[in-house]
Amino acid sequence: MSDFGPLTVNFKTITDVRGDLTYLEGEKDIPFSIKRVYYIYNVPENSARGGHAHINLRQVMFAIVGSFTISLDAGEGPTEFILNNPEQGLLIESGVWRELGTFTPGTIAMVVASDYYSESDYVRSYTEFLKKYGSR
Ligand code: TYD
Repeated sequence: MSDFGPLTVNFKTITDVRGDLTYLEGEKDIPFSIKRVYYIYNVPENSARGGHAHINLRQVMFAIVGSFTISLDAGEGPTEFILNNPEQGLLIESGVWRELGTFTPGTIAMVVASDYYSESDYVRSYTEFLKKYGSR
């Protein structure tokens, strides 16, 4: 199965002569209630992040500034996406392996998440991931 579910989440933007204002609301613009927000920045060139899946956590990820790549793998190999639009997020359901890279200088990756941080929700071994999700 390479079905990641509905992937793209469009945020609303209010534009006037003073600039753009984009917002997202839990349970309205994104399909869960937001319990945590984090952001990734100052990523050195050629650095890779991610390299894990989550058992229950759902996330929406987007580039608030700049651009980065994300490959998603629901158990049948990776599909790569480029995130470079602050008005559009990528919905990452639980049970999906993700790898982030190719951060352009100055990029800020924003993540809104359905739950608090919990290390026990991570699957950090790809072998373990395939055992758990490879045969869906
Ligand atoms: P991790 O999720 O592995 O980062 P990435 O997917 O970007 O490579 O998190 C890196 C470290 O930060 C790890 O030790 C867990 C910790 N962490 C928190 O303490 N709270 C958080 O909300 C997050 C996302 C990570």
